[in-house]
Amino acid sequence: MTEKTGTLYGVGVGPGDPELLTLKAVRLIEAADVVAFFAKKDRPGHAFRITGDRISKSAISMRLEYPYTTEIPVDNPKYRAAMANFYDTSAAMIATHLREGRNVAVLCEGDPFLYGSFIYLFDRLEEFTCEVIPGVTAMAGCWAEAAAPMTRGTDVLNIVPGTLDEDQLTSRLTGADAAVIMKVGRNLPKIQRALARAGLADRAVYVERGTQKESKIERLSEKTDEPAPYFSLVLVPGENPSA
Ligand SMILES: C[S@@+](CC[C@H](N)C(=O)[O-])C[C@H]1O[C@@H](n2cnc3c(N)ncnc32)[C@H](O)[C@@H]1O
Repeated sequence: MTEKTGTLYGVGVGPGDPELLTLKAVRLIEAADVVAFFAKKDRPGHAFRITGDRISKSAISMRLEYPYTTEIPVDNPKYRAAMANFYDTSAAMIATHLREGRNVAVLCEGDPFLYGSFIYLFDRLEEFTCEVIPGVTAMAGCWAEAAAPMTRGTDVLNIVPGTLDEDQLTSRLTGADAAVIMKVGRNLPKIQRALARAGLADRAVYVERGTQKESKIERLSEKTDEPAPYFSLVLVPGENPSA
C-alpha cells in the first residue's frame, strides 16, 4: 500500500497587521506538521513575524534563508544561479516531508501568487497536491491605510515592479489611470524620475511598512532624502470623478 503524501499549502499572511490573517490561514498554520518561511540573513522573516505564536509548538520549523536579497543586482548571473540552487534545495527539503505524509505550510507575506517567492516552490513541486490560501496583498493594506481609493468606473490599474529600468518604468506608467509600484527600496530615485517623466509625480503616495506599527505614509513629492526600505510601495490613485 502506498503511503498518502502530504499537502503543500501556500498560506498568504497579509502585509503585516496580524489581524489581517484570514481564518483559513490561521487554521492551516495551527494545524501544519511543518511550517516553512523565507527569511533574509540575520532577520526573523517577515511572514514568520506576522504569524507570531500561531505556529504549533510541535510543528517542524523550516527557515529558508535567501543567499542574497539586495546585495547584488538581480540580473547578475551569480544571483540567478544562487537563487535557482536555493529554490531547488528548499523544494527538495519540502518534498521529503510531503513524501513522508506531512502537510507543509509555507508562510507568504501578502498573497502567495503576487510576486511571492512561494511561486518558485510551487513551480518545482507540481507533482504534489497544493492549495493556495489567498492573503491580503501589501497594496490593499497600503491603500486602505492611506485612505486612497484607487480605481473608479473604467480606471485601469497598472502594477509595476520598481526593479524595471527607468525607461521601462516610464513607458509602463505613461498613460496609466492608476498604478502601484512595488519593490521600491533602493529603486526609489529611479521611480521618482520615471513618475515625473510620466506626469504622475504629484499624485504619488509613498507607503512604508503599511499596516504595521511603524508604518509611514506621505506624498512622494514631500518625501525627504531618507532611503526607502524594502517594505515600501508607491500608490498612484486614479482620478476618475466620483459617481
Ligand atoms: C516580493 S513582493 C511580495 C508581495 C506580496 N506577495 C503581496 O501580495 O503584496 C515584496 C514587495 O511588496 C511590497 N510590500 C510588502 N509588504 C509591504 C508593506 N507592509 N508595506 C509596503 N509595501 C509592502 C514592497 O513593495 C515589497 O518590496
